[in-house]
Amino acid sequence: MTFDLFDDLPPSGPDLPTTEPLADGAMVLRGIARPEAGVLLADVQAITTAAPWRHMITPGGLKMSVAMTNCGDAGWVSDARGYRYDPIDPLSGKPWPEMPASFRQLATTAAAQAGFAGFEPDACLINRYEPGTRLSLHQDRDERDFDAPIVSVSLGLPAIFLFGGMRRADRPQRLRLAHGDVVVWGGPSRLAYHGVAPLADGDHPLLGRLRINLTFRKAR
Ligand code: SIN
Ligand code: FE2
Repeated sequence: MTFDLFDDLPPSGPDLPTTEPLADGAMVLRGIARPEAGVLLADVQAITTAAPWRHMITPGGLKMSVAMTNCGDAGWVSDARGYRYDPIDPLSGKPWPEMPASFRQLATTAAAQAGFAGFEPDACLINRYEPGTRLSLHQDRDERDFDAPIVSVSLGLPAIFLFGGMRRADRPQRLRLAHGDVVVWGGPSRLAYHGVAPLADGDHPLLGRLRINLTFRKAR
């Protein structure tokens, strides 16, 4: 970690904590993706040219309000058959776009900073939220093993992230995630329930009325 990473942040004391513990194995790394946001968003743009945004259908037949796409060796997909990781984009019939170096590097750096050295994601789910879009409480459990953490990057409009416990009924913490914030959860928190409250409207300098989230996993 170098001090350049914080060039883009508002002035703060050198020892102001940028890491906020959430639970055992879970933390928020404030603003760490901000300096690279422009590159990340250009890479998102290129990915969506090859693998366009789509609203997936849940196994129960509901259209998700979050628009999604993927990059990496496998992409998370949902349809009438269920949830799974698929090396092929069902929309294009081709492999998902490769994971850009900018994505991989950020995910590995953030994981290491949160105590998970050696994280090598093979899948990145890209979520797009418009005002009103929400993601209900769920666990990320379609991955083959749960040793690797989840690394989740927020870009654009701020959102209220819900971070619960191991049971759906556990009352979630509500935390505001701003542009550049990264949440990492693994170890004892790997299967924590989480979600996103309906996005409030706003106007972000880079993304206008959108929030984009990158979720890195080791899927296979
Ligand atoms: C997810 O759980 O897949 C996304 C979480 C987020 O958008 O912050
Ligand atoms: Fe998730």
